[in-house]
Amino acid sequence: MMKPEKPLSQAIRDRRATPSFDGTPIPADDLRAILDAGLSAPSGYNIQPWRFIVVQGEEQKRRLRAASYNQAKVEEASAVIVACGDADGWRKDLDQMLLQGREGGMPEGYAEQARNSVPNYLSSFSSDEMHGWLNKMVMIAYTHMMLMAEVKGYDTAPMEGFEQEKIHEVLRLPLSYWVVALLAIGHLKGPDKFNGGRFDSSRTVFSEEFGKPLK
Ligand SMILES: Cc1cc2nc3c(=O)[nH]c(=O)nc-3n(C[C@H](O)[C@H](O)[C@H](O)COP(=O)(O)O)c2cc1C
Repeated sequence: MMKPEKPLSQAIRDRRATPSFDGTPIPADDLRAILDAGLSAPSGYNIQPWRFIVVQGEEQKRRLRAASYNQAKVEEASAVIVACGDADGWRKDLDQMLLQGREGGMPEGYAEQARNSVPNYLSSFSSDEMHGWLNKMVMIAYTHMMLMAEVKGYDTAPMEGFEQEKIHEVLRLPLSYWVVALLAIGHLKGPDKFNGGRFDSSRTVFSEEFGKPLK
């Protein structure tokens, strides 16, 4: 029987960055549903530059922890999804994107335009610009996964505290990969973290132009 799922609005309200996990394994079908949520995210030109390495093995989690400033959560979590972007992914994936698009009704004119503009756009990027673009795309898929995990009753911890080169070594990543963030998933152990609260929207939301409050 399927476990009941939390409504998304409740999952968003309840989510905290989990300080500590109890390490119970995560069933493969739940993990698959979480990954599938990420893979259904939107991306520029539908080019899907994300790549995810799922780490569940004890030894590999230990090595990942060592590459993540020794954060215990990495080792305690049931699974850690290492979210990466592939700077060269589009070179291999453009044809497949167009093929699948055509199957789904992509107009020929759109396909023609994308065949030219994707290489023009992405090959013009500096390395920093490419990392910025990958961060943008990968974090959308990542957030889909984080929220799907919460909907399915798991606790999550997003993590940016890691060393790029060390993660590359541990996971044997290709040079074109850029590690964006780690997502630890499992069940909370002990008390939850304090609730840091959020700024009032008058600080962060404007109406029509900068500085005008949204009523
Ligand atoms: C992309 C990202 C990276 C983060 N990296 C870390 C991290 O490496 N270690 C950590 O303890 N918390 C990390 N956090 C958790 C934040 O500190 C936490 O989300 C923030 O304080 C708000 O708390 P809340 O998520 O419980 O609402 C990260 C959060 C995000 C979104």
